[in-house]
Amino acid sequence: MRKRQFGRTGWSVSEIGFGTWPIGSAWGPVRDAESLDALRVSLDEGVDFLDTADVYGDHTSERLIAGVLKERKKQGKSIPVVATKIGRRLPKQDAALFTYANLAPFVEDSLKALDVDALDLVQLHCPPIETYYRPEVFEAMGRLQREGKMRFHGVSVEKVEEGLKALEYPGVVSVQIIYNMFRQRPDDLFLEQARKRQVAVIARVPLASGLLAGKFRADSKFDASDHRQFNRHGEAFDVGETFAGVPYETGLDAVEKIRPLVPQGATMAQFTLRWILMNDAISVVIPGAKNAEQARANLGTAALAPLSPETMARIRSIYETSIKPSVHQRW
Ligand SMILES: NC(=O)c1ccc[n+]([C@@H]2O[C@H](COP(=O)([O-])OP(=O)(O)OC[C@H]3O[C@@H](n4cnc5c(N)ncnc54)[C@H](OP(=O)(O)O)[C@@H]3O)[C@@H](O)[C@H]2O)c1
Repeated sequence: MRKRQFGRTGWSVSEIGFGTWPIGSAWGPVRDAESLDALRVSLDEGVDFLDTADVYGDHTSERLIAGVLKERKKQGKSIPVVATKIGRRLPKQDAALFTYANLAPFVEDSLKALDVDALDLVQLHCPPIETYYRPEVFEAMGRLQREGKMRFHGVSVEKVEEGLKALEYPGVVSVQIIYNMFRQRPDDLFLEQARKRQVAVIARVPLASGLLAGKFRADSKFDASDHRQFNRHGEAFDVGETFAGVPYETGLDAVEKIRPLVPQGATMAQFTLRWILMNDAISVVIPGAKNAEQARANLGTAALAPLSPETMARIRSIYETSIKPSVHQRW
C-alpha cells in the first residue's frame, strides 16, 4: 500500500482509506459482523485512515471502529488515524449555532464513542456556507484543539467555493470533498490551491455511491432505508451526496461510455479509484464498503498501473459531454 503525506500534520497515510458511512446508517440493512470484517480486512491489508462521523447511525460506526481498535491494541497491531465529523447534530444547520459551547459536547461524545483521550482529526460536517465567513467558528475548533481534545481539525465541504474558503483558515489541515469521474470541478482550481497550501484533501463518494462500480441498471432496487432510494432528489440532505448528484439515468449512460476503458483484469470500481489517485493533491481516497469482499476489492486498486494520458483525456471528454451540464456549476 502506497502512502501519501497528509498535509502539514506530519502523518503519512495509506492512499486508500475506508469510509464508514455505509456501515453506520442510511444505506439499507447492514450486519455489524460483516461491517467489522470489512474494517478488519482493510486494516490488516494496510489501510491506516478511517473516516467516520457522529451521525453515522448515532455513533454506530464510531463504536464499531472503537471495537476493532481495541482488538488491534490487544493483538499488538498498528492503530490507524481516525477522522470524525461533528456539527450535524445541531438542532438547525445555522452558522450562528456553530459555537464553542455547542460544539464542545459533540467532541466529548465522539471521544466516548471512539474510546480515546484525543481525537486524531475532527472535521466540521458540511456546515452551512455562511460558516466559512465566521472566523469565530474556526477559532472554536482551534480552542478545542488547544485543549487537547483533538490533534487536528479540518472541514468536509459540499462546494468547491467552500473548500477554497476553508483553505484560508491556517488551522484547517484537511478538506474533504467529493471528487470522482462524475465530479471533476475540484481539478479546475481547488486541488492546485490545496497543494500549494499543503492542505490534505480527502476524496469522498469516490464510487458515486456505487454507481461508478458499474453494477447498477435502470431497474435496480434500493431499500427504503437506503439514501439511494430516499434522497435521490435531495429529500433528506444535499442531493450531491447521493450518486454524486448525477441524475441516475444520466449516470448509467455515462458508466456505459466509461466501461470500455477499464483495463483487463481490473474492475470498474478499481479503475474509478485509480483515476482519483492520479492527482497527487489527493491525500487519501475513502471508498465505503459494507463487507470484506468489497473492502478487499477496493484495495486491489493499489496494484493498478497509472492511467495513460489518452485514457485520462477520454474520461475528461465523457465528463464534458455527459456529466458536466448536470453537476459542474452546482458544487
Ligand atoms: N458529508 C460528508 O462529509 C460525507 C458524505 C458522504 C460520504 N462521506 C464519507 O465518504 C465515504 C465514501 O463515500 P460513500 O460511502 O458515500 O460512497 P462511495 O464510497 O462512493 O460508495 C460506497 C458504496 O459503494 C458500494 N461498493 C463499495 N465497494 C464496492 C465494490 N468494490 N464493488 C461494488 N460496489 C461497491 C457499496 O454499496 P452497495 O454494496 O450497497 O452498493 C458501498 O456502500 C463515506 O463512507 C463517508 O466516510 C462523507
